[in-house]
Amino acid sequence: MFVGLDLGTSGLRALLIDGAGLPLGSAQRAYAPVHPHPGWSEQDPADWVAAVDAALVELAAAHPQAMAQVRGIGVSGHMHGATLLDDTGAVLRPCILWNDTRSAVEAAELDGTDGVRALSGNIVFPGFTAPKLLWVARHEPEVFARVATVLLPAAYMNFHLTGARFADMSDSAGTAWLDVGARDWSARLLEVSGMSADQMPRLVEGCEAGGTLRPDLAGRWGMSGEVIVVGGAGDNAASACGVGAMREGTGFVSLGTSGVVLAGRDGYAPLPESAVHTFCHAVPGQWYQMGVILAATDSLNWLSRVTGASPAELSQEVGDTLDGPGDLQFLPYLSGERTPHNDSDIRGGFLNIDVGTERRDMTRAVMEGVAFALRDCAEALKASGARLDHMLAIGGGAQSRYWVELLATVLGVPLALPEKGDFGAALGAARLAMLGAGAGSVDEVMAPPPIRETIAPNAALTAGYDAAYTSWRQIYPAVKGLT
Ligand code: XUL
Repeated sequence: MFVGLDLGTSGLRALLIDGAGLPLGSAQRAYAPVHPHPGWSEQDPADWVAAVDAALVELAAAHPQAMAQVRGIGVSGHMHGATLLDDTGAVLRPCILWNDTRSAVEAAELDGTDGVRALSGNIVFPGFTAPKLLWVARHEPEVFARVATVLLPAAYMNFHLTGARFADMSDSAGTAWLDVGARDWSARLLEVSGMSADQMPRLVEGCEAGGTLRPDLAGRWGMSGEVIVVGGAGDNAASACGVGAMREGTGFVSLGTSGVVLAGRDGYAPLPESAVHTFCHAVPGQWYQMGVILAATDSLNWLSRVTGASPAELSQEVGDTLDGPGDLQFLPYLSGERTPHNDSDIRGGFLNIDVGTERRDMTRAVMEGVAFALRDCAEALKASGARLDHMLAIGGGAQSRYWVELLATVLGVPLALPEKGDFGAALGAARLAMLGAGAGSVDEVMAPPPIRETIAPNAALTAGYDAAYTSWRQIYPAVKGLT
């Protein structure tokens, strides 16, 4: 038996699986980020600790026999967060999260520093960890002076579970302190942001044991015998483990709040200038790349709020039958954009509103705008050599057949829809614990989920959508010139 913990932005989910990787039960607890100032987003690590305890106490009560046989735990965490510890292991200030933009100035400064992109393989985005520490040094020097260790959220959970300070490669790749190709902390990257190697946790692979569960916690959660805690993963790498997107040619498109196109890579092939993220995968010798847009279903949710119709009603109005692009165009940059523009100032918009435009046209345009933005991501990935052969469609938006067929057509790749069940980050994290306990090879453990249906590109409409994409791509530079 194994446990996967998905430490998310809005809550923690604990998943219990058996020795064959099949789910036995789950429990979750919600918490929220706080936004004390515009652009700030913080969380108290004590909330994560309370959530994991409540979830595992619940699982212990519901599945006492299985919990007694747990052999390993893996943690997936929201990426890039800075949890600062003093030399006693006490938390110095609330964790600064991935969606906190206060350190935009510091990020631009680091990004422009000689050699930084070359070593980290990525643009230094404002959400990454290194610029946050530069911000703390400048604005909270009394806190900065006491920082003994910086831990990402998943690594903080590892620390809580074991008392040891260790982090996995996939999450650490999002700090801008890791030499992502060499899978090691970079002395140069640490130095340019005023940090030192002794403030970093020990690096382990995601599927490698970093410590063992504290006996007091094992007792509370009904676990007997030694329980290993593996390195775990950043949430996107963990999700990839959950759907078997490990190797070249495998990947997924996620229509969640944000949108992601992710591809497994057998080698390290960064392309920072296209704002593609190139990170270590959670297993040795593998990497992954992803393009990220910040508002996918969030764009539909916005339309839902302003029209008063639920996202489900809006989707229903559009129907199931794809019939070619509309005239109305939509830029989904409601929270700025990462890939390919790396532009936190840009905002969204509709173009070509007609006196006859109806709500349905707006929903279609929103879905098309998101699909085109994801095509931008796919093109950026392909430019770095990634292959998008076997792709799954996941996330809440994948419940709309129309949206998935639209995406398949716009991207020019068939999209497989998993059967209902568990294939998220918690499963990926539990699978890493399985690997750590020697329960099988990467290919055996990280199997793809059973597929309900594969939706092929609509060949009759491909040319029309290609032309619409070409036209849509001209909007960003034009609008950018106006702001
Ligand atoms: C990845 C990213 C998000 C967070 C939160 O770069 O910022 O996916 O991990 O989910």
